[in-house]
Amino acid sequence: MSAQRKPILVVHGPNLNMLGAREPEVYGTTTLAEIDEGLVALAGELGWAIDTFQSNGEGEIVSRIQEGAERNSGLLINPGAYTHTSVAIRDALIASGLSAVEVHLSNIHRREDFRHRSLLADVAVGQVLGFGAASYLLGLRALAGVLDPEK
Ligand code: DQA
Repeated sequence: MSAQRKPILVVHGPNLNMLGAREPEVYGTTTLAEIDEGLVALAGELGWAIDTFQSNGEGEIVSRIQEGAERNSGLLINPGAYTHTSVAIRDALIASGLSAVEVHLSNIHRREDFRHRSLLADVAVGQVLGFGAASYLLGLRALAGVLDPEK
């Protein structure tokens, strides 16, 4: 049964391919590959498969979310800097109809003012932020709970 359902889509936005080397004092030393490995392992425990996608391009992220409407069951997304600017990603999320959880490694509310606003916050089911790489794992658990409310 669980093998037949559509995977959860994990989207990583711009500069997250640099994790490990990028501002480790802010984002930690865990690489994106390590985050994805952890997500694959946890998803398996929770009875889900995942598709992971990283892009530095806004349009590519929009296109992958559009595809997700057919190919995926839900969305775990760290939009990176596009969190604060992208009406296009917000619109794609709404149009997809996917339940989404927004995650951030850092606590964006403890940082510069321009990071305090998220254009996805009110169209996501919820947000997990400030826990480093663990934000993704907590977010995946939360999303799995939304997608499988009886569990
Ligand atoms: C981030 C926070 C954003 O403000 C920033 O532009 C990022 C990473 C985070 O995960 O903490 O690229 O989304």
